[in-house]
Amino acid sequence: MSTATYEKVRHLIPEVEWAVFEPEIEAIEALKREHDAVILAHNYMTPEVFHGVADIVGDSLALAREAQHVTAGTIVLAGVHFMAETAKLLNPAKRVLLPDLRSGCSLAESITPEDIAELRRQHPGVPVVTYVNTSAAVKAASDICCTSGNAVEIIESLGVDRVIMIPDQYLARNIAARTGVEVITHPGACEVHERFTPADIDDIRSGNPGVTVIAHPECPPNVVAASDFSGSTAQMIDFVGQVSRAGVPDAGGRRKVALITECSMSDNVAAEHPDVDFVRPCNLCPHMKRNTLTAIRRSLELGQHEITLDPTLEAPARRAIERMLAVK
Ligand code: 13P
Ligand code: SF4
Repeated sequence: MSTATYEKVRHLIPEVEWAVFEPEIEAIEALKREHDAVILAHNYMTPEVFHGVADIVGDSLALAREAQHVTAGTIVLAGVHFMAETAKLLNPAKRVLLPDLRSGCSLAESITPEDIAELRRQHPGVPVVTYVNTSAAVKAASDICCTSGNAVEIIESLGVDRVIMIPDQYLARNIAARTGVEVITHPGACEVHERFTPADIDDIRSGNPGVTVIAHPECPPNVVAASDFSGSTAQMIDFVGQVSRAGVPDAGGRRKVALITECSMSDNVAAEHPDVDFVRPCNLCPHMKRNTLTAIRRSLELGQHEITLDPTLEAPARRAIERMLAVK
């Protein structure tokens, strides 16, 4: 393991802990070579995964795009089930492994194809825009997918006054506020982001004058409204870069940022921006956190858990994702 990797995370991971991670990281690197595998990792991975073993990191949109271009035989998706399923849909010839099958998502679990059929009955002719945080079966019942990184452009591309946007009620309302398109919602929510409140933002601002507050759009609209910027995890990271380059420093010459999202984001971005101080109000996503180094090593050793698709859903689910990727 290169010293350069440890230098990046030294202020996050004590040496004694790194000594435990290092042999796992070396074993994973050897297994990747042995099995012609790459690791695609979401921005919510812990630093030892994000900086230690990931080949490609990003938000849901970037991981989907990158999955299309993987030439290695195996993709290990260090993220959650819908991300692995999306990778398989977009690159079906590859073996796609998810280290722990319990890595679900409260949004994906909140909706079924029958719910979509009912929404279509209630709102005939209104297109269904489906967040990628859903199962292949739900995507297959949809007109087009979106992610938090492209939802505005996807909705505007449809050229309609009303859309059904499922399953995240908060994302739908946050995007509606930016598009002027009427949005019919479903009562889904992210178990991590729905817990943030405007009072949390008030506390952060009063304790940290000058702080820049950056919220994920799965947060409730009153939290997004109280923030300075909202965007996908990749857009949040880019915004930290802007603050680092051009933000107004406090009296001590430091720039302060609060990322209103899953805990590991601040750790991963802090490693890239030692010049920025991170206020850390965060909630853990238990599903993302199942991707430990040990789980990833075992996934490569045992070839588990391989993602398979229902052949009847494959073409319509892929169509909804590819339609999205053609827009942005
Ligand atoms: P991003 O697409 O912004 O990375 O979000 C994925 C996710 O699960 C956020 O909770
Ligand atoms: Fe799902 Fe929320 Fe976890 Fe993202 S953070 S995977 S939306 S439960």
